[in-house]
Amino acid sequence: SPTRIAVDTAASGPDVPRRIFGTFVEHMGRCVYDGIFEPGHPTADAAGFRGDVLELVRELGATVVRYPGGNFVSGYRWEDGVGPRDERPVRLDAAWHSTETNQVGLHEFAAWAEQAGLEVMEAVNLGTRGVAEAAELLEYTNHAGGTTLSEQRRRNGRTEPFGIRLWCLGNEMDGPWQIGHKTADEYGRLAAESARLMRFIDPDIELVAAGSSNHEMPTFGEWERTVLRHTAGLVDHISVHAYYEEKPGDPASFLASGVGLDRYLSEVADIIDEVRAERGIENPIGISVDEWNVWNQTRWNEVDKPAVFSGDWPVAPRLIEDDYTVTDAVVVGSLLITMLRRADRVSMANLAQLVNVIAPIRTEPGGAAWRQTTFFPFQLTAAAASGRVVVPAIEAAAVETPQYGAVPVVDAVTTVDSDVVTLFAVHRGLDESTTLSVELDRDAVDADAVVVTVPDGGDRHTVNSADDRPVAPAPLAVAVSGRILTLTLPPIAWTRVIVR
Ligand code: AHR
Repeated sequence: SPTRIAVDTAASGPDVPRRIFGTFVEHMGRCVYDGIFEPGHPTADAAGFRGDVLELVRELGATVVRYPGGNFVSGYRWEDGVGPRDERPVRLDAAWHSTETNQVGLHEFAAWAEQAGLEVMEAVNLGTRGVAEAAELLEYTNHAGGTTLSEQRRRNGRTEPFGIRLWCLGNEMDGPWQIGHKTADEYGRLAAESARLMRFIDPDIELVAAGSSNHEMPTFGEWERTVLRHTAGLVDHISVHAYYEEKPGDPASFLASGVGLDRYLSEVADIIDEVRAERGIENPIGISVDEWNVWNQTRWNEVDKPAVFSGDWPVAPRLIEDDYTVTDAVVVGSLLITMLRRADRVSMANLAQLVNVIAPIRTEPGGAAWRQTTFFPFQLTAAAASGRVVVPAIEAAAVETPQYGAVPVVDAVTTVDSDVVTLFAVHRGLDESTTLSVELDRDAVDADAVVVTVPDGGDRHTVNSADDRPVAPAPLAVAVSGRILTLTLPPIAWTRVIVR
């Protein structure tokens, strides 16, 4: 039976939080060095940043960029990355068992982000450092002048303040792998005191408290509750980190990752509500999904990580450069559908990461830069999701999944911007096509659809590479008859339909 999707285009809904199209650049592997920055590359500009990568970043259409980590930030001294490049120290990066040359730091990165049209979301180190250093970095970036730190910034070439508004209070401090790992109480106190001082210095900033590293952490739930009891009233967001992978023999659960994320978001939202009520906190606290993606973490934890951490300390090694399949792309599209649907609670999100490291963009040193499969659903969603989010009524067949039980074979969300309705839908079925019957509350004039799916006669593990890029969005036929649109989705497919 066809899937029925009914859209009440007059319904109210939250505005599309454009910050959910954020991304993430960490000093990790080849994300910065040999990623966005490669002075010897034929397309590099005078500052050493690759022109071809910058072009792809612009095309991706992200809005925010989290920086400089990640696990890296928990051992980072921001002062190492400012001032004359030839005087910058070379340090061990214990988070990734690498050598950090500090040739890229705050000034270079902020200038690049500005060129790319990205708002910087800066993370402070609450692993090896604390309240004072967080406040000093904020004074350096945002204070106009007349103090030693702000004058130092001016001497380093930046007369006007950077005006960074978004700040992460540390990263994944619940994880025993984190440099300076803490208990929830230790972190909660430190985050609260850092937040208090940072707000004294600049009351216009927005702060993100670090939630759990993932839903399966043994401390998940209690961590959020404890941290929020310390920080509610001082922070504007709490983070969620969510990575998904295909477990052997279970593609159905993998394709239903959005259901897992939806449940995770609901649990965090409930804890936020509980603590706000308990503490009488009036200001809202959003969920910042500030790391999300598909990532083969089993391979990383069992094979790659032990090798990396027993080896030497290279500069910019190849770390977690996952080759994304078309199935991964469909899952990435579906996770965006979930976050848009939960725009009532999700205030921002960052696809982790941007270049080379579990990234939509890949590069070869001296060579090509290309779009991985996951580039497309992100780019197509970021380009078209505007106005307000309207959650449609969906009647779809169910598929059984070992991890999440029975889930609808189709998930969808719409955004409505004056007379344009945009539908984003995912088909999780593995074998059969499905027909969607989309019913609006008014006549449609025309519709334009694209699909990301397994290329003709190919297999669902197809990837794009430096030399061969078989995965790209393809046009999809839509029949328009009055208020009804009809389209057929192949198995494992993500689609965007723009209706006028
Ligand atoms: O994005 C890769 C890593 O994943 C980040 O450094 C860390 O925060 C997370 O565990």
